[in-house]
Amino acid sequence: MKKTPRVCVVGSINMDMVTITHAVPNQGETVLGESFKTYPGGKGANQAVAAARLGAEVVMVGAVGEDAFGKSLKERFKNEGIETEAMDTVQKESTGVASIILSEGDNRIIVAPGANNYVTPEAIQKKQDTILTSDIILMQFEIPMETIEYTVNLAYKHHIPVVINPAPYQAIPESVIEKATFITPNELELQELKKATNYEVIREKIIETKGKHGVAFTLPNGEEKLIPSYPVKVKDTTGAGDTFNGAFVTEYAKEKDISKAIQFANAAASLAVEKLGAQEGMPAREAVVKRMKEYNR
Ligand code: RIB
Repeated sequence: MKKTPRVCVVGSINMDMVTITHAVPNQGETVLGESFKTYPGGKGANQAVAAARLGAEVVMVGAVGEDAFGKSLKERFKNEGIETEAMDTVQKESTGVASIILSEGDNRIIVAPGANNYVTPEAIQKKQDTILTSDIILMQFEIPMETIEYTVNLAYKHHIPVVINPAPYQAIPESVIEKATFITPNELELQELKKATNYEVIREKIIETKGKHGVAFTLPNGEEKLIPSYPVKVKDTTGAGDTFNGAFVTEYAKEKDISKAIQFANAAASLAVEKLGAQEGMPAREAVVKRMKEYNR
């Protein structure tokens, strides 16, 4: 067994307000839904939890507000064994909140970033020593883009691999594309990315998560691969991409084998969609290994 990988997630922390409904309202319309529950979420936090459950040593760099949500989300990180020393509590700001409508197993999400907007380059600079002790850095697009750019540059200078999950999609600075080790868009995000850059030049760093259509990527020898998804009963896709990303960085940092890491992450994501809530179904390593064995992968 290789040494435990140290994963640094620089990203968002939200409380997810999930309403389950058969009917989705149109503009100006009210409908009666089925149920409501809060779940811990945020793409950054979800990815950190996924990595921690799969055995990585995880440090979370992010921010919560000075409120009850912030307090309970920080506590939750501690229970998952995630380092919270590099997290900030922003005064007079609310913790990020995601309003999620869950209908027929798929979601619609609106994020109010709140404290996530305070994850600034200055904040990263102050935590530099913690960040630079990591084996790999993982980021998403729910914190300011200037912070992502700053962190990618810092990591590149120190030869630390960086995985960028461009969700939710925003215009990506050229330097981020150039200096990222891997970029993990879904199908819609990849369409946008292709408009913004010369795809052929960056093809080898793209890992495209295609939901039920699997995961597409290109091997270093130029061979294109498609790994099929698992035929599972989907309850909630929220956090599936996050599980994939957290699992991918954990496995890639350990083995440096892109195919193996994607296979592993694909199996982890298939387990996550079987439960409600972004983090509820995130598996432990044993469950992922078992699923891969069951399907001969
Ligand atoms: O990727 C799922 C996450 O997106 C949710 O947990 C929500 O908080 C939003 O950030």
